[in-house]
Order: sequence, then C-alpha cells, then structure tokens
Amino acid sequence: MDGRATEPFIPVARLSDLDERGRLVVRVEGTPVAILRIAGQLYAMQDTCPHRGGPLSEGDVDGYLVHCPLHAWPFDVRTGACPSNAGVRLRIYAVRVVGEEIQVAPFSDRVSAP
Ligand code: FES
Repeated sequence: MDGRATEPFIPVARLSDLDERGRLVVRVEGTPVAILRIAGQLYAMQDTCPHRGGPLSEGDVDGYLVHCPLHAWPFDVRTGACPSNAGVRLRIYAVRVVGEEIQVAPFSDRVSAP
C-alpha cells in the first residue's frame, strides 16, 4: 500500500457504529464501502464483489483475506487484490480515526476490474 489518498478524508461513521464483529457498511459518493476491523486495524474497501455483486462485508475473514459470501473469491483488505484471480482488484480506501470519528479517502491506484 503506498499510503497516498487522492482526496480529502471524508467522515463516514463513528467507532460506536461498528457492529459486534467490527464491521460496518457506509456509502461514499454513492458507493457501498465495507469497513472491517482486522487485528485491531480498520480497513475499507468496496462492498460489492466484482464477480457477481456479493456483499463482501458479510464474508468470512481469514487473516487479511475476506472471502465473498457468494462464491468465496478471496480479497486482501490491505491491497484489494484477489489472489485467485489476477487482474481483479477491489477499490480500497485509506482509513483514519479522529477521536471517535471514522474517516475514509480513496486511493488513486486501487481500482477494481469489472
Ligand atoms: S459474487 Fe463474489 S465471488 Fe461470486
């Protein structure tokens, strides 16, 4: 991850909005974005699977991989990469917490393949 966000951070939620699994879906410019807490860190990625639209926020987590609940494609929350499908990549977002507020910003080079 190169750490460069392309746009200013946008407040999207509060830490208290995360569910008991540390998950939340918000909308960023009309796009559903999944926020997940893994190993104490928050990650944000597009919630809609590029395969057939499964809700990734409902997927099982194994390490840093989230498995789509529909057909189990894995996605790395740190990079958006899909290890089983080279060339498929999710849009991911930088996440920061300011006080209790969760803020996200898109990365420039992390765009999903349709
Ligand atoms: S919809 Fe996600 S793997 Fe098929």
